[in-house]
Amino acid sequence: MPTKQELHTFLRTRRSVRHFNPDPVPESVIEEILTTATFAPSAHNRQPWRFAVVTDTATKTRLAKAVTGKMRADMQSQSADEADIEKRVATSLRRMDEAPVVIVLCRDKTDVHVDTPEEAVMGVQSTALAGLQLLLAAHAEGLGGNWICWPLYAQEETRAALDLPESWEPQAMYFIGYPDETIKSKARKPLKETIRWSQTSPDV
Ligand SMILES: Cc1cc2nc3c(=O)[nH]c(=O)nc-3n(C[C@H](O)[C@H](O)[C@H](O)COP(=O)(O)O)c2cc1C
Repeated sequence: MPTKQELHTFLRTRRSVRHFNPDPVPESVIEEILTTATFAPSAHNRQPWRFAVVTDTATKTRLAKAVTGKMRADMQSQSADEADIEKRVATSLRRMDEAPVVIVLCRDKTDVHVDTPEEAVMGVQSTALAGLQLLLAAHAEGLGGNWICWPLYAQEETRAALDLPESWEPQAMYFIGYPDETIKSKARKPLKETIRWSQTSPDV
């Protein structure tokens, strides 16, 4: 069992990895990572997370075209510069092509305790926790991962490209692979800027 200091170090050394070598990731390793992801807490223990795993080139290409097609349309509707649009789309296509594994994380919107807006938010929160756990499990396997928000902007397109059930609501996707870069830690805000301790009232 690692010491608590080793565990803190492990948790603090996860980085977003954006460049991978082309080595495939064994299916057993992907399953190990996803099993760990499912140990995230979830509201009412509903476990609303669903995972679409994409490793073959044809499906990855279909997904990439679907997501970047929506990206292009959105940028055009915001009157973005055509050169900027093409650059962003080309970079996105390259990044997806280079990722040995793409995992689309979805929330099953029917897997709720009761149908209220608050419970829907809790479903999204629970799903996101599985996403973090997935990234940490990849880190434990010596893999790199990157949280990608694009499917959130292209939920219909993502579902159609992967032929996902209607109730699967894409939330994010993860590029996973063996790292081909050394990443420096990104600075964190000083803790004192993010924390507020309770004060004992002088009147009490
Ligand atoms: C909700 C969410 C959405 C993100 N979307 C993207 C994304 O679309 N593309 C990307 O390259 N990184 C994305 N990231 C990764 C962040 O940029 C990264 O976590 C942050 O810069 C801190 O770096 P670190 O993960 O190395 O600590 C996202 C992270 C989160 C939590």
